[in-house]
Amino acid sequence: MSVRLDKYLAGLGVGTRSEVKKKVRAGQVTVNGVSAVRPEMKIDETADEVCVNGEKLTYARFAYYLLHKPAGCVCAVSDRVHRTVLDYLPDTVRGGLFPVGRLDLDTEGLLLLTDDGALAHALLSPAKHVKKTYYVKVDGEVTDEEACLFRRGIDIGDDKPTLPAELVILSGGRASEAELTISEGRYHQVKRMFAAVGKEVVYLKRIAMGPLVLPEDLKPGQYRPLTKEERAALGR
Ligand code: URA
Repeated sequence: MSVRLDKYLAGLGVGTRSEVKKKVRAGQVTVNGVSAVRPEMKIDETADEVCVNGEKLTYARFAYYLLHKPAGCVCAVSDRVHRTVLDYLPDTVRGGLFPVGRLDLDTEGLLLLTDDGALAHALLSPAKHVKKTYYVKVDGEVTDEEACLFRRGIDIGDDKPTLPAELVILSGGRASEAELTISEGRYHQVKRMFAAVGKEVVYLKRIAMGPLVLPEDLKPGQYRPLTKEERAALGR
């Protein structure tokens, strides 16, 4: 498929459209061994060999990005009222992407954006029990008894109790901090689990999903392409 060189490079996360243009003009990019001079030149992304500073880029059939979702935006591709998670990516990379799963409007944290439907299905399928870990701030003292109840599975008003979940208490007091790992993705699950023991979640951030971990240097609203290692961990 024929595509503009600068669009191709930006889509692979080499830089923004203007950054990659600069790289091309600075002679850092070669196409089939020949220095590229025009960012707008057309390349065949499946056949041409493109190198940046001598390093070969591999043709990526699908795109994978990690976004640190900030509070106040919705996990949807469009919305009439709120910003969407895709609004944090430039137009050059967002085409065809969708969020893998949902976080609430006020929840922050790790969100995978991709156009790989098979991977999304595998990560979200209830049968796969993919683990998700949340950092939680709760109004009130979280107790070992509650950790025990969560470990056994708790009734949150659905047909079945939740699957066993791991609660690690980080700090106690009038406001507690904890990490909760669940292996389902029910609607408002974390908030409903704490509500079932009479506690209110006042802050929620997803810090891991399957093999992916929220990088500490990725601030709310920032995104980056998955690394080779992260893709390999997902089998991609
Ligand atoms: N559980 C919740 O209650 N909210 C989220 O956004 C994610 C998990």
